[in-house]
Amino acid sequence: MKVVHVVGARPNFMKAAPVINALQGKAGVTQILIHTGQHFDVNMSDVFFQQLGMPAPDVNLGVGSGTHAKQTAEVMIRLEPVLAENSPDCVVVYGDVNSTAAAALVCAKLGIRVAHVEAGLRSFDRTMPEEINRVVTDQLADLLFTPSQDGDENLRREGIAAEKIFRVGNVMIDSLVRLLPIALLSGRDGFPEKYALVTLHRPSNVDDSSGLTRIFESLLDIIGDLPVIFPVHPRTRKRIADFGLDARQMRLLDPLPYVDFLALQARATLVITDSGGIQEEASYLRVPCLTLRENTERPVTVSLGTNVIVGRDPSKLRHELNKILAGQSRKGTDIPLWDGHAAERIADALVQRR
Ligand code: UD1
Repeated sequence: MKVVHVVGARPNFMKAAPVINALQGKAGVTQILIHTGQHFDVNMSDVFFQQLGMPAPDVNLGVGSGTHAKQTAEVMIRLEPVLAENSPDCVVVYGDVNSTAAAALVCAKLGIRVAHVEAGLRSFDRTMPEEINRVVTDQLADLLFTPSQDGDENLRREGIAAEKIFRVGNVMIDSLVRLLPIALLSGRDGFPEKYALVTLHRPSNVDDSSGLTRIFESLLDIIGDLPVIFPVHPRTRKRIADFGLDARQMRLLDPLPYVDFLALQARATLVITDSGGIQEEASYLRVPCLTLRENTERPVTVSLGTNVIVGRDPSKLRHELNKILAGQSRKGTDIPLWDGHAAERIADALVQRR
């Protein structure tokens, strides 16, 4: 059985690594890894391959950045001949980035089976590019691996047959479980005992000058209580410069390698983010998480985890921060199947359904 994995952007790598690993133990399976090149900086891509112990990509399509249409189209144009030449039995796609939806479309047209890891998540907000990618990918996929019950329910509501849906748990947590002990071996490296860890990159938060300025005002307000450590995504770095925002009181860092970020996250007093994956990781780590978005496609992080959706309201952020500082944060509970073994369940299903 020939399996192709398509990855493209930072959050794909920690999802693909455990699946590749789990399939390595299966007799008769050969694997090919294709990197679309959506993320191309060393610290957005290469360092993740090293730390996660992933094989180097067999093919790099080198698509780089562009508008959504251009990036999606470039992946499609460059991927089609590679898949046609290799004729895989199955292509595995991950998450909700442009590379994911582009690969699913190419496979559907070539008649190649697609497996979607992290299927069924819905924010119900179609202004979010990732929501379009989720809906399109799930409609086209032949095997849908969901992380939680809400995923199954969303897919069934959209008319996906029950026999295509496998609730396997969360592969991102597989990588976390494996590498957390290594992350915690590191020293604090000059980081303070208590701090707020911030990440921001959603276009809806960072592309608009008044919106990003308001978020910065909220963060500066927090600095009175806690130092702010902020590894900055390249998109956000550009916007901070474009809008002339003053970040001198915060500790801005370049995007961090996976293990380094995990260590910072596990030790944080709280996390403030607009990322999807970090809502999940913080919940698993039982670190309070305040999400600067109006919705989440990962509601289980709110119902069972440590996540609170604060939207873009500075007073809500302040109110929730005060609760955390007073020791009244959401404590969170175990989330079913987020146990470090999701990829093994995926590998079993892929081989059984070959
Ligand atoms: C993408 C995903 C998003 C994911 C995020 C994680 C889509 C629609 N979005 O958003 O779901 O949460 O990755 O990071 O697929 N850039 C660099 N170096 C890089 C990568 C990007 O400088 O290695 C710059 C690009 O030139 C561009 C900006 O960052 O200006 C955005 O990159 P892009 O891949 O378009 O989207 P992300 O915002 O990273």
